[in-house]
Amino acid sequence: MKVEPFLVEKFMGRYEHNIELNLAETCVKPFSLGEFLRFIGKEDYLEELKELPLTYGYVEGLPELRERISDLYRDLDPNNVLLTRGAIDANFLVFFSLVEPGDNVISIFPAYQQLYSLPKAFGANVKLLRLREEDGWYPDLEELAHLVNGKTKLIVINSPHNPTGVLLRKDALEAICDMAERSRAYILADESYYGLNIHDEQVSSMIDVCDRAIVTRSFSKSLSLTGLRLGWIAARDGKVIDDLMKHRDYTTISASILLEHIALLDLRNIGRIYERNLRIVRENFRLLNEWVESEPRIDWVPPKAGTVAFPATPSVFHLRSWHCG
Ligand SMILES: Cc1ncc(COP(=O)(O)O)c(C=O)c1O
Repeated sequence: MKVEPFLVEKFMGRYEHNIELNLAETCVKPFSLGEFLRFIGKEDYLEELKELPLTYGYVEGLPELRERISDLYRDLDPNNVLLTRGAIDANFLVFFSLVEPGDNVISIFPAYQQLYSLPKAFGANVKLLRLREEDGWYPDLEELAHLVNGKTKLIVINSPHNPTGVLLRKDALEAICDMAERSRAYILADESYYGLNIHDEQVSSMIDVCDRAIVTRSFSKSLSLTGLRLGWIAARDGKVIDDLMKHRDYTTISASILLEHIALLDLRNIGRIYERNLRIVRENFRLLNEWVESEPRIDWVPPKAGTVAFPATPSVFHLRSWHCG
């Protein structure tokens, strides 16, 4: 299997440590462990953890953690949730499990490179749904309808979107679901930046709109515990979960039981974490927006959600690839 170099990860690996300013950071200010435990009032938690046997964890994930994750969605059984090592591993597992050589996969573009390069590496015929600045980077659903056909295995979307900050509205989620249902395709909805809405817009998760959705998300971006390297997949279709599980046995065994316990504290306090993180994201947006508006050499479509934006200096040089990390 040949795979294209993952350019943004190469870039980040080279430049993200030991620097003064990181304009390419995509996580909402990750906590230090001490700061996190103080934030949730559990300063003594490491004492409690001392007795935890460092054995393999539960194969599909710590039961209470799966339950808390399933509670983020409408009437979802915890058995429909699998723990992974970040959203990157979650996306990998979806492609690894579902994509076979010759399948048609549609992916939005630009996007986090994994979402289009990896299905290609698994032998899929990948068609790109190109987002355009003149549409405010919003996907053209008529164009998507032309790309989808009876051979489409997977429609890959990402909302809130990296790198444009586009947030798909419910009517778009429903329209995409309709297309998936008609063509018997699945939807991989990468919701890594879920809930980081800059304005007070509320949009459901794709899994609460569509039974053919497979949702991926993690503790990295909106939950500020990036270093745990934990994420999840949620899907309502039991056959998909079984297939993911079958493949996951070859890659994961279990997530780290130690880190799952810390992640559990994050979800037990999710309301306060989001309060903190929305404050940070909205204040950063305000500052950046003020600067972009006062800077004639920079132009953008203001992001609606997430932590990234896609500005450009049309006449000088393109900054667009800066922010896809
Ligand atoms: C859209 C998207 N998906 C997945 C990931 C992977 O993140 P993680 O594995 O830390 O959850 C990223 C990271 O930047 C991303 O932007």
